[in-house]
Amino acid sequence: MCGIFGIVTDKEQTLGPILIEAARRLTYRGYDSVGAATLNGKKIDLRKDTGRVDEVAVKYNFAEMTGSRGIAQLRWATFGEPSQVNAQPHLDSDGDLVGAHNGNVVNNFELRQQFIAEGLTIRSQNDGETCVHAVERYINKGYEFLDAIRLAYGDLQGDYAFVIGKVSDDKLYAIKKGSGLVVGLGEGFTCLSSDLPSILPLTRKIIRIQDGEIITLWADRIELRSVKDGKIIQRAPEMVTESMDAVQKGGYPHFMLKEIHEQSQVAREVLHMLAGSAELQGVLEKMRTARNLFFIGCGTSYHACLAGAVYFAQIAGRTVIPVLAPQFLPQYILTVNHEDVGLFVSQSGETKDVLTALQAAEARGMTAFGLANVIGSTLTKATSFTLPLCCGYEISVPATKTFTNQVVTFLYLAYRLAGRDTSELEQIPDLMDKTLEMVASQVAVVASEIDKWNDMYCLGYGATYPIAQEGALKLKEITYAHCEGMLSTEFKHGPLSAVTDGFPILFVAPPDNVSLIVSGINEVTCRGGIAIAIGEEDARLRANASELIVLPKSTPQISALLAVLPLQMLSYHISVARGYDPDFPRNLSKTLTVD
Ligand code: G6P
Repeated sequence: MCGIFGIVTDKEQTLGPILIEAARRLTYRGYDSVGAATLNGKKIDLRKDTGRVDEVAVKYNFAEMTGSRGIAQLRWATFGEPSQVNAQPHLDSDGDLVGAHNGNVVNNFELRQQFIAEGLTIRSQNDGETCVHAVERYINKGYEFLDAIRLAYGDLQGDYAFVIGKVSDDKLYAIKKGSGLVVGLGEGFTCLSSDLPSILPLTRKIIRIQDGEIITLWADRIELRSVKDGKIIQRAPEMVTESMDAVQKGGYPHFMLKEIHEQSQVAREVLHMLAGSAELQGVLEKMRTARNLFFIGCGTSYHACLAGAVYFAQIAGRTVIPVLAPQFLPQYILTVNHEDVGLFVSQSGETKDVLTALQAAEARGMTAFGLANVIGSTLTKATSFTLPLCCGYEISVPATKTFTNQVVTFLYLAYRLAGRDTSELEQIPDLMDKTLEMVASQVAVVASEIDKWNDMYCLGYGATYPIAQEGALKLKEITYAHCEGMLSTEFKHGPLSAVTDGFPILFVAPPDNVSLIVSGINEVTCRGGIAIAIGEEDARLRANASELIVLPKSTPQISALLAVLPLQMLSYHISVARGYDPDFPRNLSKTLTVD
């Protein structure tokens, strides 16, 4: 999740320190490259590279940069590896325009082909550069700057916010589609950013920009227009009163809660990204024709692999071997060769267990693809192609949004492999929001009811089996209780002996297999256990479970994905009630780079 910042002031001055500070305040979003540009009416000064803000700023002496307007950008790689040329901001062909974006332009590839055919100078693989050229092409056709940006908006598909300035001018312009964009109004300056933390030290008077709007910033005023018809939109500024800490957490008390609520937005982004991926067909072809197909990961990412294997089998009829990365070596390494394909799944792309398996697999000639959130990580460099998870920085140690985007990606791949219309998946983001809304108050009550237990089970079946395992892992990670995720039908083969009066068991019910879940429920309730069911509204669940947390209606596979949301919320509530910090649980680390 990149971050942008722009400022327009009333006089030529040293802007470097302001741009550095703004960039620092966007680092919480995650990044691999940093850039800054200043404009002074005669020239554009552009400096950028990969690395930390403080390193790059010192190396290129950002502090000395002067101008009346400035742009800073932190890049989180998606299109194009982290490199100086792919870092943002970007210039147009002649160096008259400079712009930067955050988000993803999913038709990046097609647009670039068009720009090359039109004779524009392309310097990088990055979609931020695509945004600049998308404006340039209309200026070349004789359009005014504002109209050129409005037309570019129509061409740029995806979720993004974009700021651009022209050297011989006194303004900056910005548009947004999907991603956040906020404008700040100060004394003698105006500014804009992807998010509030970089604006608040300068001013607390802000205007939030909506999709389909174009904003023009002068030093002393702004003008908001509709992209569609160019008409002026009136919007009164608001004053932000929250503390910086609260703002960074998006107003939520913990990053985990913020990230849980970001899931619908990032799901939307990854679906757009997948739909626009030029490489995906080749990856699917390799998966289709592979002798054996492995999904390999650890922890939460492994649970996504399990879900992926269920989806591939159920939807596309393709057998997948999901395997924990460290088990891949002793169990499978001698069996694999160049006819096999492995998808290595890792949020961080740095998990040692996964990298060791990857190295061994590649040494045997296996084709290795990646599915990772951190582009530029070791995994993404070591695989022939990595699908990005498009989640931005996940700060909280328990993975939430990266898990759901892994599962969404698997679902999308399974649909494509089966030749099914993927438009059915477009309802997922709205269903996620609806789920969070529907379960909120009930999950809080259930959490308070089962909080006293330090031993629990979370059971699923079919597509909900991996979800039950992930729910159990979340509970273990942040409540410090023991919770085992199991196949519901296996419970009677042993763990049933643990059931005593009031013992809580979570049942994640797949809508297509309710009767099996109901018999599991009865086995525990008749022994005094409390059965908390999570599933779609169903008379059988309602009649037999002690409690039913209702999910919105969808397909069996989407329903499984949605079911993880109340489980995330449940573990969050219990963790907080116990006085723990869910973002930083004891003994755990976000990235495990040891054996
Ligand atoms: C650590 C984290 C887990 C994570 C696992 C795999 O154990 O604490 O939350 O699921 O690593 O991480 P990865 O970055 O490879 O997905």
